[in-house]
Amino acid sequence: MNDPRLGGQVGTDPMHTLTTHTGHARADAKAPDAHGTLQLTAEEQEMMDGKKGVLLQKAIKTVVAYGELFGADKLVDLQCAPHHAVSWGSDGIVPLLKIYRELADGGLKTYAPFTADPTPMDPEHLPVSDAEQAAVDKIYNRMDELKDLNTRLGMRDPDKDWSCACYLPEMGNTPKKGDNLAWSESSAINFTNSALGARTNRNSMGIDMLCNIIGKAPHFGLMTDEGRQAVWLIDVRTTKMPHPEMIGSAIGMKVMEDVSYIIGMERYLTDGVTEETTGYLKDLGAATASNGAVGLYHMEGVTPEAVEKGRALLNEGYQTYVIDDAELDRIYKSYPDLWKDKHGTPQRVFLGCPHMSYGQMVEWANRIVEAMDKSGTDTVKCPTYLFGSIYVKDRFEQEHPDLVKKLYAYGAAIPINCPMMWCSTPVEGAERVATNSNKTRVYTTARFFFDDDLTHLIVTGELPENVR
Ligand code: F3S
Repeated sequence: MNDPRLGGQVGTDPMHTLTTHTGHARADAKAPDAHGTLQLTAEEQEMMDGKKGVLLQKAIKTVVAYGELFGADKLVDLQCAPHHAVSWGSDGIVPLLKIYRELADGGLKTYAPFTADPTPMDPEHLPVSDAEQAAVDKIYNRMDELKDLNTRLGMRDPDKDWSCACYLPEMGNTPKKGDNLAWSESSAINFTNSALGARTNRNSMGIDMLCNIIGKAPHFGLMTDEGRQAVWLIDVRTTKMPHPEMIGSAIGMKVMEDVSYIIGMERYLTDGVTEETTGYLKDLGAATASNGAVGLYHMEGVTPEAVEKGRALLNEGYQTYVIDDAELDRIYKSYPDLWKDKHGTPQRVFLGCPHMSYGQMVEWANRIVEAMDKSGTDTVKCPTYLFGSIYVKDRFEQEHPDLVKKLYAYGAAIPINCPMMWCSTPVEGAERVATNSNKTRVYTTARFFFDDDLTHLIVTGELPENVR
């Protein structure tokens, strides 16, 4: 069910009642001190006092009040560049657009040019019927307004910079270890905290913009050394490298938003965080962040802070969760089938949420083309989409022209929008979508399937009998 507070167009968010969405803050949240506890510098105090204008005063007051709610002791300067989750212009975000307009009219911009999540639709590469388009036009009726405001507020390239995987090298909004940020896209937050060692809380939309306008964020939760300590030991004892979506889902559902320290994965990810392992860690993290609300995990021998500090990252009295083959199987079997026609034939295959890395795009294209070549049929039997940023798509098209030609000839497409938001209108959401993403599964009625089952579906138009 959609949450009415979100305007009805955004997918389900089963965790919002259970977490604070600020990472590790659930255990640390404090009631605000009537006098405030957050220490400001002289320059910040001037801003608070309105000496730098009324808009900056409003912005910093809001950021400080937010920080004090969670016991922040100070504001910290932000580095790298912002990334914002707001990417859909609809009536559901009118209050937010009002704030954006006030800031833009005042001539303010973010401290560095920002990127944003993918937009809901890509009519060129994922066309919809007239009925579907009518639903889309009604719901996402403020896209031009959002794009215009983003442009004025400092978006890097408003024609291109819409992807949740902004940290991939092709898009290049890639923080360094120790950078402070105020991001709001849960999957990007998880990757940048965990795999890159940067620091951001799971900020709400709006707070992100205000922090990025003043170039500062409150210092609490995942931005602090203590907040980055793990309270769970995740002991992975699977007999083979686990599917990233399944291990992420298991961790997210168990720890909800707590920080965990994962052991056992270093057997499989021997080279640490590399271009090759980025896709895996991205998907694992996104599953923890959506099946739970995880903003940070450490992985022994793999992620930068775990490499540096090892098990000193584990707090005393930590809890342990053992994940083996049987546990992953139990979790997979627990996923509900939310299709209206439970055993209906799937109508689309959605691959890549978060947006695919370059390596994943090449791998999936090869997988599809090889399976289609073998099958002897001319066209995919279930419409198939590989979602990625325009930058990853461009690189793929340039570096693999023959593969791309075959992929497109078989009828697969590479849209640049967000598959979850595409599924979140009443018309599109009624379709039976099969996905390889546990995030799309959690937020929509789409069903999750493993890669071999999806390949079978793409080639034959049917799911294998054992998973129907
Ligand atoms: Fe990205 Fe949309 Fe999935 S923002 S993580 S493709 S829900």
